[in-house]
Amino acid sequence: MVNYKDLGLVNTREMFAKAVEGGYAIPAFNFNTMEQMQAIVQAAVETKSPVIMQVSKGARNYANATILRYMAQGAVEYAKELGCENPQIVLHLDHGDSFEICKDCIDSGFSSVMIDGSHLPYDENVALTKKVVDYAHQFDVTVEGELGVLAGVEDEVVAAESHYTKPEEVEDFVSKTGCDSLAISIGTSHGAHKFTPEQCTLVNGVLVPPPLAFDVLAEIEKKLPGFPIVLHGSSSVPQDEVATINKYGGQLKAAIGIPEEQLRQASKSAVCKINIDSDSRLAMTAAVRKVFAESPAEFDPRKYLGPARDNMKKMYEHKIINVLGSDNKL
Ligand code: G3H
Ligand code: 13P
Ligand code: ZN
Repeated sequence: MVNYKDLGLVNTREMFAKAVEGGYAIPAFNFNTMEQMQAIVQAAVETKSPVIMQVSKGARNYANATILRYMAQGAVEYAKELGCENPQIVLHLDHGDSFEICKDCIDSGFSSVMIDGSHLPYDENVALTKKVVDYAHQFDVTVEGELGVLAGVEDEVVAAESHYTKPEEVEDFVSKTGCDSLAISIGTSHGAHKFTPEQCTLVNGVLVPPPLAFDVLAEIEKKLPGFPIVLHGSSSVPQDEVATINKYGGQLKAAIGIPEEQLRQASKSAVCKINIDSDSRLAMTAAVRKVFAESPAEFDPRKYLGPARDNMKKMYEHKIINVLGSDNKL
């Protein structure tokens, strides 16, 4: 049993309270590799931002759960080495799908877990989330629950809306489960293909997707004043990265994300955690493809993973400063 406090990590409680109060959001960046971890830490330290480093089940399978935990521990030490006296770093399980995986993470040093029961019938979601909360809170680990299902690109807009979080359920869910934050569905979705071109409007040559359901968010905030809300599926899919990928041999078609302006707006509300993974994948892939195309004789991984790390760092800093507003909050 390893407690996160011994690793220098923090849970989300105080971080979220300050973010809701201050009208900004904490970045939650997924990581699978050392370069992602380094870029996240560099960006957080340079911008003086708290940060959530999150690990999915897929990341645990890819990189090994133990190695990822030590990487997060290393992240705290690395932040100090870079000059940050009091780093605020959360190690969070993203989309935990069972009590067992949440327990395993809590027991091995995670400071926060998500139990994603959003696909379950309501009562089962409540029961599973409560079971995780009851275990996690013994160790002061914070828990994110989810209500409402994120859409897939194949969903028609009407079908997607039917999966939005129901504001009339949120109070009951939070009081019955005791969860510390709630992920909601208001029109975001996972991946780099969040909307089809047909779902978008062409404005000045740019495909603009339908807006997020800010009315649903406002209803939820009314039911749960000051309670921390989480947005998954919040990559913006920068078109310059998509263009670079395609210029150098990639074939990303109709990759469309959430406009940053809308995330900026959400950050000012009770939304205090914004999940970004795909934009990091795009930044990494674009940089690697460019090196491979321009220097085909290159075979030292540091020569392409280094530029990939720099490009991700630039993207993380941009999100922190220009979208979420979590800079200078340490
Ligand atoms: O929400 C999903 C995250 O982007 C993690 O993706 O399950 O492929 O690691 P993954
Ligand atoms: P994106 O695919 O939009 O980056 O969403 C990531 C996410 O929600 C991780 O949980
Ligand atoms: Zn997610």
